[in-house]
Amino acid sequence: MAAIEERRAAASFNAGTALKRLTMLALIALTAVTISIHEAYFFRGPSAQLNRLQPFWPWLAPHIATGAVALLLGPLQFSTTIRKKSLAVHRWLGRTYMATVLISSVLALYIILRFEAPSARWVMGTMAALWLTTTAFAWLAAASHNLTQHKLWISRSHLFTFTFTTTRFALDVIWPGIDGAGVTNYYWVLNIACLVIPDMVLWANSLRFRRA
Ligand code: HEM
Repeated sequence: MAAIEERRAAASFNAGTALKRLTMLALIALTAVTISIHEAYFFRGPSAQLNRLQPFWPWLAPHIATGAVALLLGPLQFSTTIRKKSLAVHRWLGRTYMATVLISSVLALYIILRFEAPSARWVMGTMAALWLTTTAFAWLAAASHNLTQHKLWISRSHLFTFTFTTTRFALDVIWPGIDGAGVTNYYWVLNIACLVIPDMVLWANSLRFRRA
């Protein structure tokens, strides 16, 4: 009986790990496609699109550099293999992630409040502020050794980091030509989704392990 239960738990673990790896690969592929479509103008030389960024380039350049590091660290932070092999490496990657989000989100907030159109300020400002807040709560939970809360808040934080991809991919590929009101509505949906999806996943996981 115990052997059957052990085998069931192992099968469920393997299926969960495979699903997690597949999801990570899909998200990395989505980000690569987004960069190749949306950011190609950075590599094409002078253009009107690049000129538009000039007034806030001194703030945008470090926002992009630190945001890129945070984005790259995402898949590494969710790797169970790294966490099991070296908790110290996981912690240092975590600290680096939090420092880069802190810098990138504060710069995003500044750019939004100073340079974005007033109609975009609320939704984008909320996104940047929630990026910062969810990361701060993840750090507080880790510092107080509350693993459940840490998982919840760090997943929310990573989803906000991933808005780099979700904001661009959907608009470029799924709804090209969408108007300003549509973009604003979509950004509000993303803000809500980044907050609630981790709850749903953690709850579904807890059910799976209870059944296994
Ligand atoms: C909640 C998360 C984020 C917010 C609120 C945010 C906010 C902003 C804002 C306000 C701009 C200026 C947009 C414009 O007027 O064109 C911008 C541009 C940019 N951001 Fe972020 N950002 C976030 C995450 C990231 C991340 C994780 C990266 C990763 C590299 C990133 C990379 C860029 C790039 C490359 C641009 C230049 C515009 C473009 O070509 O897309 N951002 N961001």
